[in-house]
Amino acid sequence: MNVVFKNVSKHFGVINALNDVSFEIKSGDFVFLVGPSGAGKSSILKLVLHQYHPSSGHIYLDGEDIFLHHKSIVDKLRRNIGVIFQDYQLIADKTIEENIALALDINGVPASEIPARVEKVINQVNLNSRRHLFPSQLSGGELQRSALARALAVEPKLILADEPTGNLDPENSWMLIKLLTDINSQNGTTIIMTTHNMDIIQSLNKRIIAVKNGAIATDSQPVVVDIVKVEKTKFKKKLKRK
Ligand SMILES: Nc1ncnc2c1ncn2[C@@H]1O[C@H](COP(=O)(O)OP(=O)(O)OP(=O)(O)O)[C@@H](O)[C@H]1O
Ligand SMILES: [Mg+2]
Repeated sequence: MNVVFKNVSKHFGVINALNDVSFEIKSGDFVFLVGPSGAGKSSILKLVLHQYHPSSGHIYLDGEDIFLHHKSIVDKLRRNIGVIFQDYQLIADKTIEENIALALDINGVPASEIPARVEKVINQVNLNSRRHLFPSQLSGGELQRSALARALAVEPKLILADEPTGNLDPENSWMLIKLLTDINSQNGTTIIMTTHNMDIIQSLNKRIIAVKNGAIATDSQPVVVDIVKVEKTKFKKKLKRK
C-alpha cells in the first residue's frame, strides 16, 4: 500500500505534534520512523489509521484521500492495514486463538478458511503452546507476538508497528524483525515501524525517516548494491548467533 502525507499538521490545543509533514512511502517499502520521545512518530501512525484527524493537509492511501472519502471506502482501506501497537488491543475474555479468529471474521474471511489461517500465524510466531490462554495469562513478549499474529493473519497490504520490540528480549526481537522482513520481501507488504532500537536500525539496510519536534529532520534511503549484501550477511549472522 502506498502512503502519502502532504503538508500534514496536527495540533492538540497548544501542542504542535506535527508541523507541515510531507513524505511518500511506496508500496512494498520497509521504513523505520525514528526520533526522540514526543517527536510525533505515533501520531503519524494514528493519522494513517484514521484514529487522529489532521489539523491541515492531506493523507493518501493508495491514492485515496482518506479524510475526504466516505466512511465505507476508509473502512475498506483500513481492513488492509495490520497494526502492532504497544497496548496490544487484544480482547481480554477471548483466547489468543479466538482473538485471531475474530480479526479474520471481522475482515470478512470465510469461516471455512479461518482455522487454517489461525494455524499458520500461530506457528509463525511460535505460540502453539499458548493458543488456548487468555491475554492476562501471557507474558509481555507473548502478548506482543500474539498481536503480531493477529496483524499477519489478515494478510494486510500495510503493517504499522509502533515500537514492536519494546517489550521483547533480544531473541524475540530478532524473531519479530525476521518475520517482518520476510513478509516485506515475500509478500511485498509495506511496513512502517517506529523504534528506538539502534541495534535493529543499524543491522538492516532500510529507509529511515527521522522525526524531530513534529517535522521530518532527515529521510535517508537504503544504501544500494554491495553494501546491501554486506548488511544482509551481517543480519543473517546476527540471527544465527541469537
Ligand atoms: N491524544 C493526544 N492529546 C494531546 N496530545 C497528544 C496526543 N497524542 C499525542 N500528543 C502529543 O503529541 C506529541 C507527539 O506525540 P507522539 O505520541 O506522536 O510521540 P512519539 O514520537 O510517538 O514519542 P515516543 O517515542 O515517546 O512514543 C507529544 O507532545 C504528545 O504529548
Ligand atoms: Mg510513540
